[in-house]
Parts: sequence; C-alpha cells; structure tokens
Amino acid sequence: MERQVNRRDFIKTAAGATAALVLTSGPNLFAEKPKADAQSEFKKITMVDLPYGMGALAPSISERTVNLHYNKHHKGYFTYLTGWINAHPEYQGHTLEELILKNEGGIQFDEAVFQYAVMLYNHNWYWPSLRPAGGGLPKGKIEKMINASYGSFNAFRKAVLENAMEFGVGWVWIVQDGEAVKAYRSEYIDTPLLKGFKPLLAIDVWEHAYYLDYENDRQKYVETVMANLINWNFAEANLAKK
Ligand code: FE2
Repeated sequence: MERQVNRRDFIKTAAGATAALVLTSGPNLFAEKPKADAQSEFKKITMVDLPYGMGALAPSISERTVNLHYNKHHKGYFTYLTGWINAHPEYQGHTLEELILKNEGGIQFDEAVFQYAVMLYNHNWYWPSLRPAGGGLPKGKIEKMINASYGSFNAFRKAVLENAMEFGVGWVWIVQDGEAVKAYRSEYIDTPLLKGFKPLLAIDVWEHAYYLDYENDRQKYVETVMANLINWNFAEANLAKK
C-alpha cells in the first residue's frame, strides 16, 4: 500500500515519538550533534558531508539557508535516527537503504523512525545534487536520455517545474527508469527508492529549503536551482552506477 503521510502527520507523529522516547529515558534526541562515536558506531547510517562551503551556493541559496538546512534539519534527522538505532540493536548493521526497504517488507519499524530514515536518505541526495556554478545544459549520456524521453531539454525542464508546483509535493527528483530519464515528484515523506526508480538528482522543495531566500516563490527557487546549481556531473556519475 502506498504511503500517504503528509507533513502535518509527520510532525505530529515525530513529536509524539520524541516525547515518548524522552519520557522513557531514551537517547537524547535534542542533542545538537551526534555523539562523537555515532559515525563509527553506526557507520552504515551516514549523513553526507556538505561537498562545498556553507556560502558556496550564494546568492542562489544563501549561507543562512544552507547552514540551517544542513546543520539543523538534516543533522536533526541523522541524530534522531542514530539515537533510535542505539536503543534498538536489532537494527544495527544495516544501511539506510536497507532499513527503508526492510520497513516496506513488513518489519515493525516505528513509523516516525521510518519517516526520519526517509528524510535522512533524501537529504543525502540533495546536497551533492547541487554545486556552485552548476546548472545549464546536461552533457553526455544524461543529455541523450533526456532528449530521448522528452524530445528536448526545455520540455524536460518544464516537466521538472510542473512537478515542483504540484500541491503537496516535498521533493522533485530526476530518476532513471530503465532507459528513460524522468522528472518525478514525491510527497513530503516519500522517496523514489520505494518505487523502484534509481535516483539521479534530488531537489528539496520543503519550505525550509527556500523560504528565507524566496519566501513563497517556490517556482523561482526551482528555476534558479535548475539554471545555476543543478549538478549534471553527479547525475552522469549516478547513471554509470549499477
Ligand atoms: Fe530539507
């Protein structure tokens, strides 16, 4: 059954789970940073390093937005998830992808924790999907696949923007589906991993990704990302991976 979890439900569920864990003397989920040994203790659960400086995407995305997004939102998902796994040894030793897919396979994965795992996974895609002086036109195999799927880059770009402007969308992806490249959208707590698509690039369209810089103009944010930041080299590298 396809998940239909909206952001309000996620926040409500996550807040409830956080309170429950704190009340039962669980791991400190409000820690600013993961424990020093968190990366080594759960080395299969990783938070991607920011591949550039905090201010490197400015002026398209400000240093303030990157700092808040990476150090508060993204790191918060990592801290929560590793804290939960610390209290549940049966889930240790798995990658993030394995945990997400195992949940779909019927294990009793706490719903809020599943949502944090999806958010960590999606954000791990977001930062390398951008780069300073990115954007422009793709080159190489990705260009050919886009043209084969959409007829032209402009038609593909239009599809990306249309997906970004749908109501309730949380993420816009560029995915590989066999020999096709597709613009794909997922709701707030969803990921193409669960649909069998291979992610190539991710654009976070939660409001925290753009509101400080663009207020409510999501279209301008996505247009700017496509024009100035999207990392086609990363997409090309992901195409080559099995
Ligand atoms: Fe985000």
